[in-house]
Amino acid sequence: MSAPIVRTVAELRTVVAGWRRTGASVAVVPTMGALHEGHLSLVHSALQTADRVIVTLFVNPKQFNSAADLAAYPRTENEDAAKLAPLGAHVLYVPEAAEMYPDGFATTVSVSGVSDGLCGAFRPGHFDGVATVVAKLFLQTGADFAFFGEKDFQQLHVVKRMVRDLDIPIAVVPCPTVREADGLALSSRNARLSPTERAIAPKLASILVETAERLANGSPVTSTLAEARAAVLSAGYREVEYLELRGEADLQPIASIDRPARLIVAAWLGETRLIDNLRMPWSSLLADQMPRACQELAAGTASLIAVRLP
Ligand code: PAF
Repeated sequence: MSAPIVRTVAELRTVVAGWRRTGASVAVVPTMGALHEGHLSLVHSALQTADRVIVTLFVNPKQFNSAADLAAYPRTENEDAAKLAPLGAHVLYVPEAAEMYPDGFATTVSVSGVSDGLCGAFRPGHFDGVATVVAKLFLQTGADFAFFGEKDFQQLHVVKRMVRDLDIPIAVVPCPTVREADGLALSSRNARLSPTERAIAPKLASILVETAERLANGSPVTSTLAEARAAVLSAGYREVEYLELRGEADLQPIASIDRPARLIVAAWLGETRLIDNLRMPWSSLLADQMPRACQELAAGTASLIAVRLP
């Protein structure tokens, strides 16, 4: 059965207040619609965590850098509602832009530091738009939990920082990236790829996997990343905005793998900008370190060993 659609803040608050009177916990899954399996996996996780789940569908004008990109963004409310129906989400919140940003709206939430660099450097103002709308969605829903995909890894960091800084009482729950069978990370933008581009697209993920393995096996970071960027271009991508190794906890650039880290990339395939990221495999690092450490212990050249764990 389709979940009821709510379009105003007042109506949403009434619904949530009713749930709260029964002691129900509430989760929100913020989306811009054009739902795919990645979004649906967030909804599944939310339904396993909270008693009531709100899915928001709002194409947020404030996070687009170009009017053309905003105009081209798919609006598929009926299809989205049909995809959500079998899952059992409790409410779809689908506000109009005028409800979200009424005349005179003048506030921007800006999360410095973590919004700079990577996507922030190439899409000025994008994360201000994201933080502003996500703050409003958190306040409007009053949810206890919010579910975000790790594919938008920098966005996840921006949201977590904002929640901490503004003392918003919500738990941000990261969920793993969902991929096609060939490795391509699911994205609403994949629908824009031509058949030729679609065949090239998964090479971004396979280059990340190869690069992670090379780094884990001791390849020098700077030259390995440069080779990975060149490999993305050779695969048929038009431009690599960035392909970097960043600390998982703070997104700071790192020059050696001495802590949990992510490879993170944004690249253009024709007219489509794709992003992806991959957690560095720690198991292979340990596989290298453990035998050497055991030999040293056996030979008596070491009495204490330290192995870095994530
Ligand atoms: O990831 C998205 O779809 C959007 O950035 C979000 C979080 C729904 C805010 O508009």
